[in-house]
Amino acid sequence: MKRSEVNAFMREGIAFLAKKQFLLPSFAFWTPEAWRAKGAECREIVTNQLGWDITDFGSGNFLKTGLFLFTIRNGSLADPVKTYAEKIMIVREGQITPTHFHSQKMEDIINRGGGNLVIRLWNAKANDELDDTAVTVSVDGVRKTIPAGETLTLHPGDSVCLPQRNYHSFWGEAGKGTVLVGEVSRVNDDRTDNRFHAPIGRFPQIQEDEQPLHLLCTDYAKYYTC
Ligand SMILES: [Fe+2]
Repeated sequence: MKRSEVNAFMREGIAFLAKKQFLLPSFAFWTPEAWRAKGAECREIVTNQLGWDITDFGSGNFLKTGLFLFTIRNGSLADPVKTYAEKIMIVREGQITPTHFHSQKMEDIINRGGGNLVIRLWNAKANDELDDTAVTVSVDGVRKTIPAGETLTLHPGDSVCLPQRNYHSFWGEAGKGTVLVGEVSRVNDDRTDNRFHAPIGRFPQIQEDEQPLHLLCTDYAKYYTC
């Protein structure tokens, strides 16, 4: 992705979150220059990968295959105390997050308003291939079983609990509008805990054609030298 695209989608995302009255912590709005002056007190943000995470999964087409995320809180697999994480996401109509599972992370995906979120599910075989067995998940405390590769639709307010090694992909339903999506999960390490079914990257390759508006979580190493 070009940095100018990342900045544009970040501006649009900030406006969408404001419209939904979903407020971000103040570090979301630090400038790159402010980051250069930060000290050891900010280490947790960097170590636990908090903050902006706008990705096209290396596809080159964010609106078709991409996801807008902000990690609000997260522990670290090395820290046995803080065992949870929370993210906010924006999913557009037809914008696909590719099929993947997590070995460590168990996650609740929550439709926090806007359109409908469609989620396609499979179990994973021991060899990490898609299984053809029926998938059972909890939708707000109600157990549901669907055939392999079928979809669930989460309407505003609905959530689903995805266990480890549950293959999932999701997108916003056509004609229903952009979706504000929450995630409450176990600790999440996106550097190591995403197993995509088709080979694809978790983070974008950035072409620096302008200055960052705010840093992505993958930018910290370039600006935070503490
Ligand atoms: Fe996931």
